[in-house]
Amino acid sequence: MKILVTGGCGFIGSHFIEYFLKTYPGAQVANVDLLTYAAHPDMPNYLESLAPERYSFLKRDISDPELKSWVKSGKFDAIVNFAAETHVDRSILDPDSFVRTNVMGVQNLLAVAREAGNIRLVHVSTDEVYGSLKPEDPPCLETNSLDPNSPYAASKASADLLALASGRTYQQPVLITRCTNNYGPYQFPEKLLPLLIANALENKPIPVYGDGKQVRDWIYVVDHCRGIDAVLQKGHPGEIYNISASGEARNIDVIKKVLDILGKPRSLITYVGDRPAHDRRYGLNSNKIQSELGWKPQFSFEEGLRSTVEWYIKNQEWWKKVRGSDYQKYYQANYENKFGSKNSKNREVNS
Ligand code: TYD
Repeated sequence: MKILVTGGCGFIGSHFIEYFLKTYPGAQVANVDLLTYAAHPDMPNYLESLAPERYSFLKRDISDPELKSWVKSGKFDAIVNFAAETHVDRSILDPDSFVRTNVMGVQNLLAVAREAGNIRLVHVSTDEVYGSLKPEDPPCLETNSLDPNSPYAASKASADLLALASGRTYQQPVLITRCTNNYGPYQFPEKLLPLLIANALENKPIPVYGDGKQVRDWIYVVDHCRGIDAVLQKGHPGEIYNISASGEARNIDVIKKVLDILGKPRSLITYVGDRPAHDRRYGLNSNKIQSELGWKPQFSFEEGLRSTVEWYIKNQEWWKKVRGSDYQKYYQANYENKFGSKNSKNREVNS
């Protein structure tokens, strides 16, 4: 199989390429990535080193109309789209770039896939499109309505709708995966888990938004990649597949768990102003992919979390480097007390 992966230098995309090249010794992968701030600068070389004769790289925006002829001549069997702006906080501060990449980019990729012989397109989406659950709600099914609350979630929901509409209008073999919060090595340290681990290792405060009782459903990144692969190989065109390891946990409990693994004090926990329109709870039901495609998660949250923490301990050079330069400027300009400081006193955690 010869596939085109877009956004393959980002966190999930790079894990997917590694998984794919290692799992299928005959497979070929071309990676199109714009190498934005979230891409690991050494990733193109690292991925190439895994299988130099089966891997190629092109630095391009997925919105680029010239991709059409390039992809057409590449004779690919399928496209898997990871390219996206993904951080909710950034989408609040700069929504335009989310519409450009996540909506216009996907619209272009749909046309690219059609022109390349109407090839299969797996579009990687998120649980955030369903909006926030109440504590008593069952985890979301693929048939739940879309109710996004952040510009990020709205951009992903828009792309999902464009992809489904293309499938119906042009008989295009489009498949959508919606996954829960990922964690693992190489996640950019603006997301909760890597930020928490990195800050704790440097004895810096851990910013907890609001009351910290928001619930996220956690999955180890490699389990997500195996789910995408199952959809790529066996999924039915026009279908949506939720991917979840049923790992719901409150932010504050995750934070305490990581501090305990690291042997760091709870006094690092620092409550800050809340994210606007902060979703209270995400949770997905993944019975469909489990029963129809035979996928199931292999990592428990405990196992995945411990190995992730170990990776960040061993790879301090990596996250210190990406926390420098560009990111640092952004962080300083926007992140410290980005949503107001009224709740930023260090509070006793008794929940
Ligand atoms: P995040 O990793 O940004 O993922 P998402 O918003 O896509 O779920 O955040 C996970 C949760 O952690 C979310 O409820 C926001 C919260 N959070 C904090 O409390 N402090 C932080 O510094 C960050 C980055 C997130």
